[in-house]
Amino acid sequence: MTAQLINGKEVSQQRLHLVAEKTAARQAAGLHTPCLAVVLVGEDPASAVYVRNKKIACEKVGFQSLSYELGAETTQDELLKLVDELNANPDVDGILVQLPLPGQIDSQAVLERILPHKDVDGFHPYNVGRLVVKMPLMRPCTPKGVMTLLEAYDINPEGKKAVVVGASNIVGRPQMLELLLARATVTICHSKTQNLAAEVAAADIVVAGVGIPNFVKGEWIKPGAVVIDVGINRLPDGKLCGDVEFEAAKQRASMITPVPGGVGPMTIATLLENTLHAAELHDN
Ligand code: GUN
Repeated sequence: MTAQLINGKEVSQQRLHLVAEKTAARQAAGLHTPCLAVVLVGEDPASAVYVRNKKIACEKVGFQSLSYELGAETTQDELLKLVDELNANPDVDGILVQLPLPGQIDSQAVLERILPHKDVDGFHPYNVGRLVVKMPLMRPCTPKGVMTLLEAYDINPEGKKAVVVGASNIVGRPQMLELLLARATVTICHSKTQNLAAEVAAADIVVAGVGIPNFVKGEWIKPGAVVIDVGINRLPDGKLCGDVEFEAAKQRASMITPVPGGVGPMTIATLLENTLHAAELHDN
């Protein structure tokens, strides 16, 4: 069997198109234009690329964007002061502080300072809690983007066995909650999991988000499983690769996301959907 490719680029473009239409309709109805504030601290090159892509996507759908680039020596107090200003600014619907932050800054304290209804990343404990109690408000972008991809390909997780590899706050944990919300039976694996191969081999749906190239072996995949690869790793030769051994997994899976062009574009599309949602919350 050779798996069907799940085209995240195409689905993300459809979603961005919808966001652009809704934004134009808002403007025609006299409602305010959604505005996203993006904060980058330091000079991490990968973060700079992500932030630039987020700004470009905002322009494409007709959003306003504000961007703040702070030096690597920025103190926690300075960053918290900026967050407070953005919280208080009625023109700002969504606030995104790009992670990782430099070591002198307590990231969790910064994330908890963002008003929950402006928290378009969905990382504030209030929003995490809302997802836990099946009443999501702002949902973390990458896991929600994965659910959008599954839906676009008519993959219903209800009753399926889903295995999430990686337990990070950005991907694994909220992914577990999203899959649970969609009524899958979910197992989450991490660095202390015993017999990872057997866990993955039992899965109808595998979501890998560990940040290690080719960590999930193709031979572990159950024939016919759906494989979602959240990893974006840069190899020494400059090429991008995921967390799953793509070529080997493709021979066993029924559907699989490529890297690049799978989950990556969905993260940005979902960020803009969340920003539109934040703008709608501000209307009320
Ligand atoms: N760094 C890597 N992924 C993300 C994300 O989804 N949001 C933020 N703010 N930082 C990130």
